[in-house]
This record gives sequence, C-alpha cells and structure tokens, in this order.
Amino acid sequence: MQLRVGMVGYAFMGAAHSQAWRTVNRVYDLPARARMALICGRDAGNVAEAADRLGWDAYTTDWRDLVSRDDIDVVDVCTPGDSHAEIALAALAAGKHVLCEKPLANTVEEARAMAAAAPTARASGVRSMCGFNYRRVPAVAMMRRLVADGRLGVIRHVRAAYLQDWIVDPQFPLVWRLQKDRAGSGALGDIGAHIIDLTQYVTGQRITGVSAVTETFVKERPLPAGSSGLAATVDGSVDGHADGAGPATGPVTVDDAALFVARLDGGALATYEASRFATGRKNALRVEINGSLGSVVFDLERLNELEFYDATLPTAEQGFSRILVTEGDHPYMSAWWPPGHIIGYEHSFTHQMRDFIEAIATGTDPEPSFADALQVQLVLDAVVRSAELGSSWTDVEPALTAVAV
Ligand SMILES: NC(=O)c1ccc[n+]([C@@H]2O[C@H](COP(=O)([O-])OP(=O)(O)OC[C@H]3O[C@@H](n4cnc5c(N)ncnc54)[C@H](O)[C@@H]3O)[C@@H](O)[C@H]2O)c1
Repeated sequence: MQLRVGMVGYAFMGAAHSQAWRTVNRVYDLPARARMALICGRDAGNVAEAADRLGWDAYTTDWRDLVSRDDIDVVDVCTPGDSHAEIALAALAAGKHVLCEKPLANTVEEARAMAAAAPTARASGVRSMCGFNYRRVPAVAMMRRLVADGRLGVIRHVRAAYLQDWIVDPQFPLVWRLQKDRAGSGALGDIGAHIIDLTQYVTGQRITGVSAVTETFVKERPLPAGSSGLAATVDGSVDGHADGAGPATGPVTVDDAALFVARLDGGALATYEASRFATGRKNALRVEINGSLGSVVFDLERLNELEFYDATLPTAEQGFSRILVTEGDHPYMSAWWPPGHIIGYEHSFTHQMRDFIEAIATGTDPEPSFADALQVQLVLDAVVRSAELGSSWTDVEPALTAVAV
C-alpha cells in the first residue's frame, strides 16, 4: 500500500516533517509506504527550491489544488494556525487523511468544527491526527508507561514549564507568531499547548479548571523588513530567523508569557509556565510528576534520559536514578541503534509519521485525535478567560459538545 502525501508549508515544520517522511519507511517496517508526492507554498520559486531540497516529487502554489487532487491520499498541514481549519476541513471533505500541526486551530470554534468533521470522515475510513510530536519522544512515552503501570502511585503534582528567549530583544520583528489573527495566541498556544497535551497524555488526567496570568512585555515591535505588512512574514521565514526589522512598528497582539495553576480530574494539582522571555532558555521543556510511590522528571535538553525516584525501594537505596531511554524495549527504540546510541529532536517526528501511517494502514484511530486537540484548545481558552478576569478560577469547558459550524 502506498500513501501519497501532500504537505502545505515548507519552512520550520515543513522541513521537520519532510525529514520524517523521508526517513520513516527506511527505519520502520510498516504496512504502507509514504511517498512524498506534492508540496505546497505560495511563492513558486521558493516552493520549487524547497521541493528539490526536501525531496518532494512535485510542487503547487495553491493548497486547494493539493487537497482536491485524486493522486493525494494524505494532507500534512504545516502552516500557521490561521489556515489549519480551512485546509484540514477541505482535505477531510475531499476524503484525505489529515495530519495537522498544533495547536489544532486559532479558536475554539474552528477546533470544534474540525473535531466534528473528523468522525464523519472516519466513517468512510479517513483518519486525522494533531501533531503534538513530543508525545513521541521515547522518554515521554516511557514516562506514560511508568504512570500507567502504577509505578508512581497516586499522582499529586504536575510541574511543567516550556521556556524560550527568542523575543527578549524588543527590536525582534513582529513575525506571524506575535500576531493574534495569525497565531491565535502567543507563548500560550505555541509552547504552552505542548505541555498541556504532554502532561495530560502522560498522566491520563485532564485539566478541569485554571487560574492564570498572562503578560505582553513588549507591546510594540518593528515590522519585518521585506514583509508586505502586518499580515505576512517573508515566505519561508522561520521561528527566530525572520528577516531583520524595518523602520515601521506595529502592536504585539499575543501574550509573551502565560502562567497558570490547574486541577486535574484525577485529583492532582498542576503548575504550567510558558514564556518566550526566559533569557538563556532556548527550548527548555521540563516536566516533573510527583506521585505517592515515586516521581519522574523529563527535560527536553536531555531527551534520551528520565529521572526516576522509586519510593518503594528500601530507604537506604532511594534516590533519583537516571534511566537512559535507548533500550530496545523502550518505546520506539527497537528500530534505531544499539543501546546507548542516542537519538534527537527530529526522531519525534519520524515516530509521529510511523504511528500515523500504521493507523491509516490498519484502519485504527491515531492519537492525539482532533477531539483530543479540541480539549487542549478549550484549556487554552480557559487560560485566556481566567487571565482576562484577574486570574479568577475558570472551569475548562467539556469537549463533548463538538458541533459542525
Ligand atoms: N510540533 C512542533 O514542535 C512545532 C514546532 C514549531 C511549529 N509548530 C506548528 O507548525 C505550524 C507552522 O509553524 P512553523 O514554525 O513551521 O512556521 P513557519 O513560519 O516556519 O512556516 C510556515 C509555512 O507555511 C507557509 N504558509 C503560510 N500560509 C500559507 C498558505 N495560505 N498556503 C500555503 N502555505 C502557507 C509559509 O510559506 C511557510 O512555508 C504552526 O501551527 C506551529 O504552531 C509545531
């Protein structure tokens, strides 16, 4: 079985996904083969160059062409959030399997429409998944296994932070990630969404309510030079590598940082911190979970490792131990290298494509589903509403009410 993939967007995530599509069938023995059939971008010259560099058979400059073609089976959405819903809904309606980058959409309404369309498409065998790739870091999947096996006992605390510093300089230009109409929200939806999904996935518990603060430290920034204005960044620019600043400025319409406390439905208390102003922290995702029988810690900067504290050991032997998650019986690792030969960031995307291909080929539902991603969107929405109401306690709306709009 061959799956002909069409991907929209070819910058940061486009490159990461291309690497994964290129690699996945060479590493894993799967019931279907991905073929990198078609790539889409808006600028013909740039997308032609990207197709050649990233290994795609052909290119187009219109995503509507990509989703409507008979020779495409899978649509991979790697654009900013303002186009996720439109592209994904059109692709599902055209009978294409859809992998959509996170956060699922820019608004709850769009996410609801996507979550409502997914089961309709599934009825005719069409699968959909949201790209929360950190679930596929072997150490994160191993964390989940430890929790599910009861090794941590009753979960009491979840402590999560995702910290970056790429906009500390007030002269950093107003790229699309700093514009609400393009990105939905700032640090909250971009990196906060990852730790929301990751912690809920690992613990099996869902956030029921939050109290939040958000802040935009730098409220006005230079427009990117070479951009046609507020609505666009230079085609092909990536996070942290935008064109330099021009003389004109515009308002930052998203949060620079979002912090919140939360309750989980299994009784745990949780703290979350997402910031692009953590000077010196480049891409620092850290999660610690404390349970009645033990604790576990994950740090993305040491992604092959887990720290595990087993409180059931004799007192004299207790202490945090370092597990090197590179054994063949660790999640995803049997296809890679001999034990101790570490892997990296890009492998999480290869694992994501592996799981997606396998689900399509075996007729099962991949996770996280659009409904799972809608639930993350509802948490983001509760955080925004709480912050607007002076941090007042705000319940997360149940995700069960997905309706078509
Ligand atoms: N999973 C992760 O770890 C992760 C990391 C970074 C970004 N993301 C997500 O991936 C998505 C893309 O982010 P990015 O960092 O790759 O952005 P980017 O700016 O690097 O790339 C966006 C791409 O989309 C293209 N594009 C924009 N609008 C388009 C349209 N209407 N038609 C065709 N192409 C269009 C741009 O030309 C560019 O190639 C976002 O949803 C972001 O939140 C996920």
